[in-house]
Amino acid sequence: MNAKKTFKLAVIPGDGIGSEVIDAGMKVLKQVEVNSQGEIKFESVYFPWGCDYYLENGKMMADDGLDQLKSFDAIYFGAVGYSNVPDHVSLWGLRLNICQNFDQWANIRPVRFYKGIPGKLANRSIEDHDWVLIRENSEGEYAGLGGRNLSGRGLGKEVAIQSALFTEEGCERIIRYAFDLARTRKRKRVTSVTKSNAQQYGMVLWDEVFARVSKDYPDVETNQWLVDAMAAQFILHPEELEVVVASNLIADILSDLGSALTGSLGLAPSANINPERRFPSMFESVHGSAPDIAGQGIANPIGAIGSAAMMLEHLGLKEESNDVMRAIEEATSKGFLTRDVGGTNSTIEVAEAIVENLSKNKVEN
Ligand code: IPM
Ligand code: MG
Repeated sequence: MNAKKTFKLAVIPGDGIGSEVIDAGMKVLKQVEVNSQGEIKFESVYFPWGCDYYLENGKMMADDGLDQLKSFDAIYFGAVGYSNVPDHVSLWGLRLNICQNFDQWANIRPVRFYKGIPGKLANRSIEDHDWVLIRENSEGEYAGLGGRNLSGRGLGKEVAIQSALFTEEGCERIIRYAFDLARTRKRKRVTSVTKSNAQQYGMVLWDEVFARVSKDYPDVETNQWLVDAMAAQFILHPEELEVVVASNLIADILSDLGSALTGSLGLAPSANINPERRFPSMFESVHGSAPDIAGQGIANPIGAIGSAAMMLEHLGLKEESNDVMRAIEEATSKGFLTRDVGGTNSTIEVAEAIVENLSKNKVEN
C-alpha cells in the first residue's frame, strides 16, 4: 500500500467542453482517493482562466499566474479557445504560455485503441496497434519567432516571417527521451519524423542529432521518415509504429491523425512533461474546446480521464494509473460510449461507468 500522500493539483477547465471533461476526470480522481482508503489525497485548486476571463480582464490568465501555478504538483487542464477571442491570442496566452515557460518540453501522446470502439483502420485487429508520439514541445515551429511588417504599403502588400527554432540541445533532449521510452516498451524501436528534404537547416540538424544519439542506444532499432510519407504510413502500416518522435508542428498534426484513427479525437490523452521536475507538468486531452458541442453534456471524457491516468503515473502512482486505464477499457468494452464513437451515453454516464469499474476493481483486489 502507498504511503500517505497529498498532491496539490491546479485545475484549469478552460473553455468549451473543457469544464465538462474535467468534471468527469475529477470524479475519477475522487474514486482513486476513495480506493486508497485515506492513503492518497488530491487538494485541487480551480483557476478560472480562459476566454471568458479574457473578455473580463483583457488577459487569458492572471499576471502572476505562472507564479501561482509553480508550487503545484501537477496541472490538470481542460481545453482552450473560443470564438469570442482570436485563437492565437487564447493559445499563446494560456496553453503555450504555461508549456513554454514551465519548460514542459516533452509532450507524450499515446495512440491507443480501445476494445468496443470501432477504429478507422479497416480489417485490422486493434490488439496490434499501440504506439506513442513524442512531441518536441518547447521550440521548433512553435518558437513564436518572427514578425509582420509593411502593412503601411497598402492592402495586399504586408509581409510576415515565421521562423522555426531548432537548437541542438532541444533536439537532443527530446530524441533521448524517445529512446529512453523505447527501452521500456515491448518493441524497442524509434521512428523520427521530419521534413528535412525541404527544411534544410533546422530539420537537417534534427536528423543529424538523431543519428548521433542513436549510437548510444544500439539495442534500439531506428527509422527516419519524411512527414508526408509518415502520414500515409499511419494509415497503411501502423503496425510498424512504436515510439514516434517529431517536432512540435509535425507531431501536433500526426497526433490528430492518430487519435482520429482510434475512433475519435475525444479519446486521446496527453502529458506535457518537464522531465527535470523544476516546474509542474500539465495533463490535457489532445482535443480542443469543441464549441459546437459545448454545454450539451455529450463530450467524450476518455481523453481527459486518460490524461488523469498519465498524471497519476507522473505523480508516482503507477498502479492507480493502471487501474484507471483498466476501468476505461472495461467501460468501452461494455458499450458505454459517447456519440462520437457510435454510442448514446452522456459524458457523465461514461464517467460514472468508469468510476463504477474502478470501485469494483478495488473490491476485487
Ligand atoms: C494541441 C493543440 C494545440 C497545439 C493548440 C490548441 C495550441 O492543437 O494541443 O494539439 O497546437 O499545440
Ligand atoms: Mg493539436
